[in-house]
This record gives sequence, structure tokens and C-alpha cells, in this order.
Amino acid sequence: MLSDNLKVLLASTQSFDIKSQNFHWNIEGSDFPQYHEYYDTLYGDVSGTIDRIAEYIRILGHYTPGSLTRYAELSIIQDQTKIPRASLMFQETLTDIDRMLELIIPMFDEATNEKQQGIANFLAELQDLYGKKAWFIRSILKKERE
Ligand SMILES: [Fe+2]
Repeated sequence: MLSDNLKVLLASTQSFDIKSQNFHWNIEGSDFPQYHEYYDTLYGDVSGTIDRIAEYIRILGHYTPGSLTRYAELSIIQDQTKIPRASLMFQETLTDIDRMLELIIPMFDEATNEKQQGIANFLAELQDLYGKKAWFIRSILKKERE
């Protein structure tokens, strides 16, 4: 059901947002300014999607989950309590982006089938957003050509 998937998307986005903020604060390395800035933009952009997801759940006539307990139950994003090295943070974010896209892409078809075109548009925007973030990380992690 679209509203159930939106609840999972909301919880996962909250988890993703918290983890991006964690990495923004704690990342280290010789390219620290760019890394710190990358995660700043990432959590800002992801955070900017949370309210719209929540309001779509309400528009569909359901109550929106709004507690850490419910988010932990619903999220498909693994929590991170440690401080990984920078390259591992980026790898982990790339994995998390893949998980988000695996959720978002089939939801587009579900929204279209239910004639929720506004939600489908929003999901298409999310696919673009996460796709672009993944491109940046792949480019950061790419070894220099010989
Ligand atoms: Fe900051």
C-alpha cells in the first residue's frame, strides 16, 4: 500500500538524515573541508524532503509516524553508532542511497497506478536527488587514473 511505503520512506529518510549529520560532524581527512561540506548539503537536501513525505501520508488519510521508536521499527537504513573512516562513511552512504532508490523506484509505479500523480512527481524528484548524490560519492571514491 502506498501509504505504508510512505511511512517506511519517512522513517528511512529520518535515519538517513541523522546518519548524514553524524558524518558531517565527525568525518576527517586531508579533504576535510569538501567532505564536511558534502555531508552538510546532503543532510540539508534530504532533510528538506521529510515534511513533504509526512504530509503525503496525511493527504492519503493516514496518520504520520512521528517518534524515534516508530522510525527505528520502520526504517530500512541501518543505524551507525560508530565513527567510520572517511572512505567507509562514503561507502556506507552509497549503500544507503542504493537502499533508498530500491524503495523509491517501485513506489513511483505504485503512485502512478493509484493515480497519485503529485506523489509520483515527488518520487521522481527523489530518484534524481539520490542519483545525483551517488554520482558525487562515486567520483570522490574513484582512484586517480594512472
Ligand atoms: Fe554544520
